[in-house]
Amino acid sequence: MKLLTIYGSPTPPGKLSRALDILADSVRSEPGWTHERLAPGERLSFTTAIWPEDAAAAVASADAVVIGSPVFRAAPPGTLKLLIDSLSVEDLRSKPVALLTVAAAQEHALASERHLRDVLAWFGALTAPNSLFLQDVALAQESVDDDTRRALGDLARQVLRLAERTHDLDIGPTPLAARRS
Ligand SMILES: Cc1cc2nc3c(=O)[nH]c(=O)nc-3n(C[C@H](O)[C@H](O)[C@H](O)COP(=O)(O)O)c2cc1C
Repeated sequence: MKLLTIYGSPTPPGKLSRALDILADSVRSEPGWTHERLAPGERLSFTTAIWPEDAAAAVASADAVVIGSPVFRAAPPGTLKLLIDSLSVEDLRSKPVALLTVAAAQEHALASERHLRDVLAWFGALTAPNSLFLQDVALAQESVDDDTRRALGDLARQVLRLAERTHDLDIGPTPLAARRS
């Protein structure tokens, strides 16, 4: 089975990327699981990057997904929304998805998550109940503390266990988006 981690930021790999690397490392000891990273390709500006042509296929072929999002102006970055806008309902429907947010301000702990939960509901994704918020200072250095590492491993394990237990379930009702198309 495959876990896809999404680097949902237009910025060059930094603190969010470090967090996703730690999370991905924890998947190495999980029998039957592989990991793949999806990140934007070409960066058009400081705040905008575009995704590889096969980005939607990478999401579609994943058994579980972790979306890593920074907070930009009290919301997820537009670059992450560009990826989401390119997906079809079937790419995420009934798929376990966990949310990781990294931001500078503690007050913005839910700033990205609350929007992403709405969007994932539209797809009928199986959004994991426990998200993880990390303040960027915790990831500023190469050495990241044990509590943060443990929390990232827990986030990964949550979505892997959800995928193992639900992969053959037919989860209804049909999401509104699929009923309209
Ligand atoms: C354009 C821009 C807008 C940002 N807006 C916010 C914000 O509204 N709230 C916040 O807590 N952090 C904000 N940040 C900080 C990032 O969310 C934070 O540093 C995140 O970890 C990205 O760091 P990274 O690129 O090293 O991964 C902003 C960063 C940028 C570049």
